[in-house]
Amino acid sequence: MEVIDGNEIAAQIISELKVEVNSFSQERPTVLFIRVGEDPASVSYVRKKQNTAKKIGITSQLLVLPDSITQEDLLDAISKANADQEIHGILVQAPLPAHIDERKVFNHVNPTKDVDGFNATNLGKLCQEMEEGFTSCTPAGILEILKRKKIVTEGKHVVVLGRSLIVGKPAGMLLLRKGLPGNSTVTFCHSRTPDLAKFTQKADIIIVAIGKPQFLTADMVSTGTTIIDVGINRLADSAKKSGFRLVGDVDYDKVAPLCSAITPVPGGVGPMTVAMLMSNTVKAFKLSLETSYS
Ligand code: GUN
Repeated sequence: MEVIDGNEIAAQIISELKVEVNSFSQERPTVLFIRVGEDPASVSYVRKKQNTAKKIGITSQLLVLPDSITQEDLLDAISKANADQEIHGILVQAPLPAHIDERKVFNHVNPTKDVDGFNATNLGKLCQEMEEGFTSCTPAGILEILKRKKIVTEGKHVVVLGRSLIVGKPAGMLLLRKGLPGNSTVTFCHSRTPDLAKFTQKADIIIVAIGKPQFLTADMVSTGTTIIDVGINRLADSAKKSGFRLVGDVDYDKVAPLCSAITPVPGGVGPMTVAMLMSNTVKAFKLSLETSYS
């Protein structure tokens, strides 16, 4: 059984990006983070993304807006960033307050700056298998893990648990694509799927993005499966200074011994998401150069 070290793969990608960014003659790729409110997890994620950007030589800007902001004002802030030629990538950290329509916000980001890959144009390009679109970072990170670890996907049965726009749907679409990694047979399961174990037991690869701590248990998994755990859940733990510990969507201790490979939480998919965001930012920067000279 191999425990896949996401930190190691992410570090490789980050060092490759650093070399690439250093080769750019003058301008630096610039990404704008928009955070609405002070949700502690969002504060911590955005900080981590900014620190990684700095390591690579990517410039980042942070716009913090109040929880009470109207949808219109948030869309205006995005319009300004869309028009600003010095900003190459825009990321609006989710979740957003309940009074804001997240989809409208994601669709308002200029598709050529949509480093999160959440808007309808980029999701459409993913379905059309067009390389120039942006793929959302967590699914892109999963694909990169499979590629770099040489995990065979062709002809394999991939079961995706979860149907979110951010992870489940794009992850399945990526593995369905013609090409490698891809050429998989994909089954989507979700909270309304009866008898989930019937599907997961038949999987070669399971991508778990259901958002429930330790949801995938040993009885649901066959020997030799590859498991990608996307969950990041906080479980109360009085032994920890923070008062919680992070667990994935997989009952790791019991499931891991059955697997051929598994991503741990933390240290699996999480670092890959940040690395792929940086890769998308560099891609957006290069795209901006092409469009300004054509
Ligand atoms: N919230 C949780 N994951 C993500 C992500 O990948 N991008 C954004 N914008 N928000 C998130």
